Amino acid sequence: MAGSLTIRGLAKAYRAGDGSETQVLGGIDLDVPAGSIVSVVGLNGSGKTTLLRILAGLEAPTRGVIAIDGRPPALGGPRGIGLVCQDVALLPWRTVRGNIALGLEVRHVPAATRLALVREYEDAFGLADSSGRYPRELSGGMRQKAAIARTLIADPGVVLMDEPFSALDCQTRNRMQAFLLDIWARRRDTIVLVTHNIEEAVLVSDRIAVITPKPSRVEAVLPVDLPRPRTRTDAGVNALRARIIDTLRHLCRQ
Ligand SMILES: Nc1ncnc2c1ncn2[C@@H]1O[C@H](COP(=O)(O)OP(=O)(O)OP(=O)(O)O)[C@@H](O)[C@H]1O
Ligand SMILES: [Mg+2]
Repeated sequence: MAGSLTIRGLAKAYRAGDGSETQVLGGIDLDVPAGSIVSVVGLNGSGKTTLLRILAGLEAPTRGVIAIDGRPPALGGPRGIGLVCQDVALLPWRTVRGNIALGLEVRHVPAATRLALVREYEDAFGLADSSGRYPRELSGGMRQKAAIARTLIADPGVVLMDEPFSALDCQTRNRMQAFLLDIWARRRDTIVLVTHNIEEAVLVSDRIAVITPKPSRVEAVLPVDLPRPRTRTDAGVNALRARIIDTLRHLCRQ
């Protein structure tokens, strides 16, 4: 059930033990239309994870407003915000099935409904044969799939992904990008994807937001007006990638 995400003037400052204050987010404004994929790119330490953690309700902003379809987000359930973390956070003592079912259990979805839904997701994610395995018994790509399935099964209004494919080898990463687009084409989730991989951002996104170093704000939002499916060798993909790299290089020098 995709919703549109609106972020206005979102700011965050951390206070260190010595009383000094670091302004991490300097006022982020961003619109993510319902059913679209918006990537956020920026240098290390520019506050991308901080932004997602605030959006997911794990931290409070210093100021600013977040809304889904014009209303404050409800966390966790349908119409809320789901987060796929930078480090895959599967519970090691739960099987694939147990991990995927977690969000439904928390919401007290009846066992029979839960099982039917989890099976559907295991099938869609190619995890049916691994449903009884534990995270340590899975490859990195399978863990990523389980983590994404666990978030999507709760049907959040907005899905946040923090560098979800960064730990994967090149081939697995390419497969996961295609897989994400495949799932998205069926469900049309609203997705915010944080990535350092500019090619990935261009291949999957509708828009790309480039953020400045901290205190960060949105430097530019570039529309990706390229038909899907896109390939890495498309001239349009290469041109946009070069433009974003140039923007980041410019920000590095500031
Ligand atoms: N809990 C915290 N207390 C103090 N400072 C913090 C805290 N969390 C993050 N920071 C600081 O905020 C800044 C932004 O961190 P954040 O993790 O959001 O960056 P990022 O853009 O996600 O970086 P990366 O690309 O490396 O993942 C960093 O300088 C970091 O040290
Ligand atoms: Mg980060």
